[in-house]
Amino acid sequence: MAQRTFSIIKPDAVRKGFTAAILADIERAGFQIVAIKKQSISKEQAQGFYAVHAGKPFFEGLCAFMSSGPLVLMVLEKENAIADLRRVMGATNPANAEEGTIRKKYAESIGQNAIHGSDAEETAAFETGYWFAGYELI
Ligand code: CMP
Repeated sequence: MAQRTFSIIKPDAVRKGFTAAILADIERAGFQIVAIKKQSISKEQAQGFYAVHAGKPFFEGLCAFMSSGPLVLMVLEKENAIADLRRVMGATNPANAEEGTIRKKYAESIGQNAIHGSDAEETAAFETGYWFAGYELI
């Protein structure tokens, strides 16, 4: 059965002009783009989105980075979308990412790692609802 996941093309990748290449990788992997929007977010919005990481040493830097420039918010659909997107993304730290993955090709560091993807059904539901209204999810 088709499953939905939530994803972000992060400010580093947008800044470097990798948006279209990353979208092409995602579509080539069989995902349908259910909803997509490019926008800038505030540090407070980033803190709410990443609340689960509050208090961790990288939290402040992560929220500053995510609010440093435009990013692309997406809801994606396919069978096994959550696990499959994480495979296509590659490891969180691009130094450990497999050849051909988005992070291997387009990311520079664990902090600036080009793309985010939900890690479970509950997080996908929270993250989708954080950025998209129901009427945007056709
Ligand atoms: P993401 O999948 O967006 O979820 C949380 C983010 O924290 C993660 O990607 C990384 O980009 C970022 N991050 C920064 N530093 C670290 C770290 N030391 N360990 C884990 N995640 C980190």
